[in-house]
Amino acid sequence: MNVEGLKKIAGEKAAERVKDGMVVGLGTGSTVKYTIMKIGEMVKNGLDIVGVPTSKATERLARKFGIKIGELAEYDSIDLTIDGADEVNKNLELIKGGGGALLREKMVAYYSKYELIVVDERKYREIFGSFPLPVEVVKFGYARTMRKLESLGCKPSLRLEENKAFVTDNGNYIIDCSFGKIENAGDLEKEFNMIPGVVENGLFIGLTNEIIIGSKNGVKVLKSRE
Ligand code: 5RP
Repeated sequence: MNVEGLKKIAGEKAAERVKDGMVVGLGTGSTVKYTIMKIGEMVKNGLDIVGVPTSKATERLARKFGIKIGELAEYDSIDLTIDGADEVNKNLELIKGGGGALLREKMVAYYSKYELIVVDERKYREIFGSFPLPVEVVKFGYARTMRKLESLGCKPSLRLEENKAFVTDNGNYIIDCSFGKIENAGDLEKEFNMIPGVVENGLFIGLTNEIIIGSKNGVKVLKSRE
């Protein structure tokens, strides 16, 4: 099976968890796209849910597939969120933000009763942190913020799109921070967020309940002990 096939089996498996009446957080990216398409099919067959999108792109996709859309602020909690990730490990820690949606994704995850992650097997890591950590920063003084991030041990680079700075749905920039290896993800998440000008970073620690991994041998599941 090719990578696209692995994303599809993971994404579609997660859709099985969606039940009538739920408020469902809809993640962003090319894996969760398969979940959203599957939920769209289920809605056509009578499933009644509200989706809370984590990006403008996901909102467009969900609307295209006939999913009712709600806003985060309308609900005290979200029953289930399904989202992708760029790296996962056995502790259910994640690096997210490859698609630039990390701030909304983390807010939706924070208010979710259950965070379910879908990835293909290439995303699983014994050694965490080879994917550059995305950090969302305000535009004001961003070059200074970058130097501060560098002083904390990474190689930062401003994310570009078509030769211009990439701008998030929230009007901010993304700095991708290469570490090579991250050992103290929980501390790093907090340390980065203490820097003025940093809005959020892509480390998701203690937010995930389960990871569905699409592998050549089928779907594998990693779960937290609850
Ligand atoms: C977007 C994300 C995505 O979930 C992550 O980048 C994975 O995307 P894909 O499934 O396309 O590899 O965090 O901000």
